[in-house]
Amino acid sequence: MNNRRKFINKSLKLGMAVGMTSYLQGFGFNNPLDEKEKTNRTRVKLPSNFGLGGVAIGNGFRPTTDEQAQQAMEGAWEAGVRFFDTSPWYGLGLSERRFGRFLHNQKREDYVLATKVGRILKAARDAPRNNSWKDASPFDYEYDYTASGVRRSIEDSLQRLGINRIDIVFIHDLSPENGDMKANWKDYFKVAAKGAMPELTKMKEEGLIKGWGLGVNRIEPILETLKVADPDVCLSATQYSLMYHEDALERLFPACEEKGVDIVVGAPLNAGFLAGIDRYNYWGEMPEGFKEKREKMSKLAIKYGTDLRTAALQFSAAPEIVTAVIPGTRYPDQAKANVESMKVKIPQAFWEELVEYKLISEKAPWPK
Ligand SMILES: NC(=O)c1ccc[n+]([C@@H]2O[C@H](COP(=O)([O-])OP(=O)(O)OC[C@H]3O[C@@H](n4cnc5c(N)ncnc54)[C@H](OP(=O)(O)O)[C@@H]3O)[C@@H](O)[C@H]2O)c1
Repeated sequence: MNNRRKFINKSLKLGMAVGMTSYLQGFGFNNPLDEKEKTNRTRVKLPSNFGLGGVAIGNGFRPTTDEQAQQAMEGAWEAGVRFFDTSPWYGLGLSERRFGRFLHNQKREDYVLATKVGRILKAARDAPRNNSWKDASPFDYEYDYTASGVRRSIEDSLQRLGINRIDIVFIHDLSPENGDMKANWKDYFKVAAKGAMPELTKMKEEGLIKGWGLGVNRIEPILETLKVADPDVCLSATQYSLMYHEDALERLFPACEEKGVDIVVGAPLNAGFLAGIDRYNYWGEMPEGFKEKREKMSKLAIKYGTDLRTAALQFSAAPEIVTAVIPGTRYPDQAKANVESMKVKIPQAFWEELVEYKLISEKAPWPK
């Protein structure tokens, strides 16, 4: 076992093992401590293989009220969710404030929290510049992947969240599909490789965080990071879902496996597409043939007594390297339904048919 894994495993285990393990077993989640014994794989310990993502709670896709956000958090918590992922970017601080409103009333040792660095928020003088959020907070943002920028960003997040520590820090959207960067993303990457990455390793060694990695929508930035730094866990969004997964299987997972880096899967429903919404990821494009492919998979799911959203969540969680899936939710019922989906047993014949009809890769691991 390499040393950084030992550190993370030990610190997260100590903090959570006593109360949380038996609590989560009651909800039917995988017990992470058992998991290690089963697989003999060392990994960043999360309370379960399931968490809550903070895009919708930060007014992603459409506005969410404070009350809806609070209820969604309460619903997720009641259903047993204890891993939460947010970002300063989501609603320009809104998601973190809403997560904090709920989480600051919980015991800190009872949950694991991830947030992100890379954008510093500043009060906007007039209207904030155009951004992806619906009714975001009145802030503007500046990219800052330097060492001091990372410290500042984490401090700002703690203030918004109203808590005293963050467990996992993802370097956010340092990636070619980021419209602010595009082909220049490598310039930002160079800054992060000298600044954010060594600084986060230092913060881990100082015991301020438990681990760090990238939070991105493309594979390349993670592969580049593996060459120059020593991340613990990366959030890979939109790259490992029922709809699209070959590239991650071919290139991302083996490279991460070799370096002992875990994966958290973001956007396991492709931003709601696999829950039946006609919206695929974040860029307003619907790839050709995807609706038809979804229709075929959905019919098969129904034939085997399940639904496509359930199959999608379990599919994304299946590879051993995946330590959690984190669908976003706006309503308590969505959160509860997603937790329930992780407990359903899906017949193996369903996955066999998906392979037979070439709807998924034959190399993709099936949920056990
Ligand atoms: N670069 C990065 O680091 C990055 C990028 C993307 C995502 N992420 C992380 O990954 C998380 C998940 O991604 P995401 O939230 O964008 O997309 P997602 O999890 O693929 O889909 C979430 C959307 O699906 C719909 N949904 C969820 N559960 C449902 C249910 N039970 N029934 C019906 N509809 C349901 C909701 O749509 P409506 O809200 O329209 O109802 C929800 O907002 C994010 O929240 C974020 O934490 C990180």
